[in-house]
Amino acid sequence: MSNVPQPLRRRAGVRVLVAHAGVHGSTRSIAERIAACLEEQGAQVDVLPVEAVSDPSEYDAYVVGSAIHDMAWLPEALSFVRASADLLARRDVWLFSVEMPAAMRGPWRALVAKEEGHVVGGLIDELRPRGHGLFSGVIDPEHLTRRGRVKFQAMGLRYGDYRDWPAVDTWARRIGREVLGHGGEAYDVPD
Ligand SMILES: Cc1cc2nc3c(=O)[nH]c(=O)nc-3n(C[C@H](O)[C@H](O)[C@H](O)COP(=O)(O)O)c2cc1C
Repeated sequence: MSNVPQPLRRRAGVRVLVAHAGVHGSTRSIAERIAACLEEQGAQVDVLPVEAVSDPSEYDAYVVGSAIHDMAWLPEALSFVRASADLLARRDVWLFSVEMPAAMRGPWRALVAKEEGHVVGGLIDELRPRGHGLFSGVIDPEHLTRRGRVKFQAMGLRYGDYRDWPAVDTWARRIGREVLGHGGEAYDVPD
């Protein structure tokens, strides 16, 4: 083996799909933030609504997120992961859900942990993701029906923007480290 220093080459790009489903924009904004973090770490990232993914097979890793409505992932997000289940089973997958844990007060807070199991427990069993991120989004009165607003108020919840960007960044960076297989920065390896 030669002691002559070897030329360095850039590590081949790892392709990541961040696919999202939401109604009022907070899931998309969180997906875009995750994508930006992964790109910063050196991954090649596409961030797309689930309906816009034409060929899911071309990625090395997947981050799929949905808004939670009525304690469930949105139907289009469920259709996407189920249609791609065989592929996802062979790749690295992370899931995230956007709901309202940070808006919960007092005794309702205890529901958060239960809700997570209820909402994504089945998906986790099916897809065996490497992680699940649970994030708070945005809730405004105009997002809800009259009945929804009454229920929301009865639960003592408060409207607002509960997105926790440092929590999203921390979660995304961990994925970046796992996907890129190193400390998180794009790096060079000898030929
Ligand atoms: C019709 C409706 C139902 C909702 N149901 C739940 C729920 O069951 N649990 C929860 O924590 N948040 C619930 N939320 C709050 C949303 O998950 C939250 O507003 C999220 O940010 C929505 O994401 P989006 O902006 O991408 O649509 C609901 C919101 C709406 C509009």
